[in-house]
Amino acid sequence: MPTQSRPLRITVIGTGYLGATHAACMAELGHEVLGVDVDPEKVAELQAGRVPFYEPGLEELLAKHVATGRLRFTTSYQEAAEFGDIHFSCVGTPQKKGESGADLRYVDAVIDSLAPHLTRPALVVGKSTVPVGTAARLAERLAELAPVGADAQLAWNPEFLREGFAIEDTLGPDRLVFGLSGQEPGAEQRLRAVYARLLEAGVPLVVTDFPTAELVKTAANAFLATKISFINAMAEVCEASGADVSLLSTSLSYDSRIGGRFLNAGLGFGGGCLPKDIRAFMARAGELGVDQALTFLREVDSINMRRRDRVVELTREHCDGSLLGRRVAVWGAAFKPDSDDIRDSPALNVAARLQLLGAEVTVYDPKAMDNARKMYPTLAYADSPVGAAHRADVILHLTEWQEFRAIDPVALLPTVARPRIIDGRNILDRERWREAGWTYRALGRP
Ligand code: UDX
Repeated sequence: MPTQSRPLRITVIGTGYLGATHAACMAELGHEVLGVDVDPEKVAELQAGRVPFYEPGLEELLAKHVATGRLRFTTSYQEAAEFGDIHFSCVGTPQKKGESGADLRYVDAVIDSLAPHLTRPALVVGKSTVPVGTAARLAERLAELAPVGADAQLAWNPEFLREGFAIEDTLGPDRLVFGLSGQEPGAEQRLRAVYARLLEAGVPLVVTDFPTAELVKTAANAFLATKISFINAMAEVCEASGADVSLLSTSLSYDSRIGGRFLNAGLGFGGGCLPKDIRAFMARAGELGVDQALTFLREVDSINMRRRDRVVELTREHCDGSLLGRRVAVWGAAFKPDSDDIRDSPALNVAARLQLLGAEVTVYDPKAMDNARKMYPTLAYADSPVGAAHRADVILHLTEWQEFRAIDPVALLPTVARPRIIDGRNILDRERWREAGWTYRALGRP
């Protein structure tokens, strides 16, 4: 199908991590975009061209399209319904408090708030990660609540973007997936028009039903989490047997059936997606009566959490058996580099646990300091990695920012009380640190 000549009018509902990126990228693709959020402060920030979190390149892209007028923001669902022909729902699906399942209140609220304003045909497209079965339920509710009835249609188009690469992943994804009910003939064409530029560039497209589209996302995250926990389980075996998990991982990576990505052993996964998504997936499998199919994910989760225990234990060993009053420098607070996201951050989890065990912990992160301070106000913070390392008994390298790799271990020696470092991400140059006189330890390496 040829690229549309008139720009499409698109709304993006929920302007968090996923939505703000999607909105800016839709404008970059030439569409007219209205971002919608219930938080007036967030809307004001975005309308002023500012992004309330850190994502490389996003603020520039957003400001560019706010300036051209192709991208605007509002808190009004009525305005959204009047403006848009296609509405992307990009709200979060956090883990329910005290339970494993996903909290769908925001996803439901989008339909409940938007539908009553839909007085002409419209396509609502879900992008959030949801338990399989959600889209079918939402499609019914949408048609029920919209004045236009069944002409308010639903499609599911899961998002696979990684933080730190959000723009790249949105404008050049590995694949597009369109989940359709099969009853709405025009939905596929409209989605093809939205992504025309990507499809012309050869991005693979899978057109499928609702449940498959929902499952693609959950299955992808479950696979990635499993791959990380697999290599971390190997790290445990390596530690017990004197083998080196880094060399093991490199050797495995040459097998093209295995590949090297997501095979870095270390402190394991965190963030706003993988941990909660595998738990919600297990909960949903239980509801569907196939919990046995996913019991292995419980093990994936436990292996991952054990990595944090292991770093705490290694730190204690490095402090001659007691953490009381020991000064610990923690490099990294974000759950991964190039992000200021601290949701389920392994680094901060370890920092907080060490503090509870009596250590004096000082944290430094290039971008996540404000978020970390808000969530862990009792930890100490320094404004540089060297500042955090001042008089430290041990340094923990827990988020692999480039800035930490650039540190000169020789120059750092006079700063610390004792030259000991634990590389929680297996990425520092071990020989360089050892030659400089440091005791270097990493997970799964001799
Ligand atoms: C993930 C998925 O990759 C993405 O497709 C989905 O849309 C959202 O969830 P994200 O949470 O941004 O993206 O981070 P990702 O790059 O996948 O890393 C997840 C976690 O795994 C991080 O904590 C990272 O440090 C850890 N990780 C990754 C490892 O421990 N080892 C690895 O080899 C790779």
